[in-house]
Amino acid sequence: MATIAVYSLKGGVGKTTLAINLAWASATRSARRTLLWDLDPQAAATFLLGGDAGGRHPAQAIFSKDVDAAKLIRATAIDRLALLPADTSLRQLDQFFHALDKKKRLSRLLGDLAQDFDRILLDCPPGLTETSEQVMRAADLIVVPVAPSPLSQRAFAEVAAHLVQRGAKVPLMPVHTMVDRRRKLHVEAVARHPDWPVIPMASIVEAVAVRRAPVGAFAPRSTGARAFNALWQAIEQTLAGRAR
Ligand SMILES: Nc1ncnc2c1ncn2[C@@H]1O[C@H](COP(=O)(O)OP(=O)(O)OP(=O)(O)O)[C@@H](O)[C@H]1O
Ligand SMILES: [Mg+2]
Repeated sequence: MATIAVYSLKGGVGKTTLAINLAWASATRSARRTLLWDLDPQAAATFLLGGDAGGRHPAQAIFSKDVDAAKLIRATAIDRLALLPADTSLRQLDQFFHALDKKKRLSRLLGDLAQDFDRILLDCPPGLTETSEQVMRAADLIVVPVAPSPLSQRAFAEVAAHLVQRGAKVPLMPVHTMVDRRRKLHVEAVARHPDWPVIPMASIVEAVAVRRAPVGAFAPRSTGARAFNALWQAIEQTLAGRAR
């Protein structure tokens, strides 16, 4: 099992969009038993995958170990893709992790799920918080969406510096998201990092939120779907390289 976190210090850069589309590629293209774990109290990934917040147990109960994660996991409309939904109870997660002082709680919970899944994707809330610290300890790879803007690039540099400072070994994979090649600043930003994968700005990707489905499920031949699939393949290659 490998855990791929989709994380950024910055909000609104396309984390959730990446997470659900990569989860689709994992389940469908790679035929992996895949879990999308929504860690964000906004519960956007939960909404997009057709889960409704407000099940029998609050999402936070997994972390306090009151409820087994398996009890909250649900199937989605997509074969091999399951969802561990979020709800507003997760807004307390940072304080909870802080008070708990168990730095590997998320890693342990992921370890418990390793029998049932090949790939677990974490849709993370923004910020450099106790939750992100847990994510950085637990993930095998952290995919960081970077919009082609100076503030987004600065946020990525902060995260990279933070990991170096902590002596963390987890690899980061920066990805340029929402790239519009008609804009000079975007073209320049992409040229500065030609090795970073690119997800284009596209109406079909925006439609994910309207259709409540990954783009591969309704427009598999679109440029957007192809970009997510190519990124997923790059992720699989990185994970395979680490296993060697
Ligand atoms: N490649 C893209 N092309 C067009 N629109 C996009 C693309 N990626 C994301 N968006 C849109 O940008 C908005 C923000 O995306 P998303 O919710 O995925 O970001 P986020 O980083 O998860 O935000 P938050 O920090 O609030 O969790 C959404 O309206 C989404 O539809
Ligand atoms: Mg999000």
